[in-house]
Amino acid sequence: MAPKGDNVVVSNMKLENLLSMKGGKGEASYANNSQAQARHARSMIHLLKEALDAVQLSSPESPFVVVDLGCSSGSNTIFVVDAIIKHMTKRYEAAGYESPEFSAFFSDLPSNDFNTLFQLLPPLANDGGSMEECLAADNHRSYFAAAVPGSFYRRLFPARSINLFHSAFSLHWLSQVPESVLDKTSAAYNEGMVFIHGANEHTTNAYKKQFKSDLSSFLRSRSKEMKKCGSMFLVCLGRTSQDPTDQGGAGLLFGTHFQDAWDDLVQEGLISKEKRDNFNIPVYASSVQDFREVIEAEGSFGINKLELFKGGSPLVVNHPDDEAEVGLALANSCRSVAGVLVDAHIGDHLSEELFSRVERRAACHAKETLEQIQFFHIVASLSFTAAT
Ligand SMILES: C[S@@+](CC[C@H](N)C(=O)[O-])C[C@H]1O[C@@H](n2cnc3c(N)ncnc32)[C@H](O)[C@@H]1O
Repeated sequence: MAPKGDNVVVSNMKLENLLSMKGGKGEASYANNSQAQARHARSMIHLLKEALDAVQLSSPESPFVVVDLGCSSGSNTIFVVDAIIKHMTKRYEAAGYESPEFSAFFSDLPSNDFNTLFQLLPPLANDGGSMEECLAADNHRSYFAAAVPGSFYRRLFPARSINLFHSAFSLHWLSQVPESVLDKTSAAYNEGMVFIHGANEHTTNAYKKQFKSDLSSFLRSRSKEMKKCGSMFLVCLGRTSQDPTDQGGAGLLFGTHFQDAWDDLVQEGLISKEKRDNFNIPVYASSVQDFREVIEAEGSFGINKLELFKGGSPLVVNHPDDEAEVGLALANSCRSVAGVLVDAHIGDHLSEELFSRVERRAACHAKETLEQIQFFHIVASLSFTAAT
């Protein structure tokens, strides 16, 4: 049978015009599949608060501006922004200062489902209410909110306008799959594979180079936008191994059942080998060392804290012995973050076929999958040091 799957038109589209987590509130949506990220964020909240304790209090005359970069469309971003603003308000009070007004920008790529996010946003607290009332009223927000679409690898805000940047589980997304990885004539061509996990040295170097250049662009942009007293708290996927071909939890998510499911489609004649090889997941789980090197070379930020934190499993299952539930949890987890890219590459129908194979394969290996899949996160607390 002739390979199908060439029915798709958007393969060459720029990643930043395409990438988003699965929107809406459906079964495979990010809003419905981000409980693991929520759990990991909560387990790191003491690190966030520690970072906030080092943030300089600014004059109450101008608003205190918080940005969440890579906010996506679930409620995690709302939880974290709320936690930041409550903590900072308490700090102003404890210091005996008048609290400024707070403003929060939720930022992500233009294809992010901002509508779903805004529907989750609690109403603004009553104008007449005091800050204490706002803090007491958990179902209200005590900050002005707005969305900012665009890539965090470029400028998003006016110069010297932001007090605090936060970003969780986003900076491991590269700005693009490195060109050489998709170039048949290059030694870095990732033939037969859809992720860096287990790839050859040339592919790995291309991914690493892309990550370093992206992170450097990110820092450069933020260094222009940040007020002189500004800080950043960043969390993204990291790895324990020095060897980038071992991508840890991300390797298990995108390099095992997901990889095998692509191979199934090829073997069953549903897509060509080239179609598979033209797809690669633009994710890089960095080591602490890679991360540190970029911050130090870029030079705008001092490191208050930089460490690897064990986040735990990305899968949330109620019945760990239920193989079908484990299979579905892995497929949905994978689909909520990579489904939009897969749909764009092979179309909705074949994407459905692919993820049903991921689900079946993960169900067959439910026990090992649950035992082995662990996410580690790089946690970085940075202060702005160089006003340019
Ligand atoms: C896994 S979600 C994280 C969502 C949220 N921060 C949380 O804690 O649940 C990663 C987000 O990063 C966004 N992202 C990836 N690359 C980006 C870029 N270059 N610029 C802005 N956002 C980006 C994705 O669109 C996605 O919404």
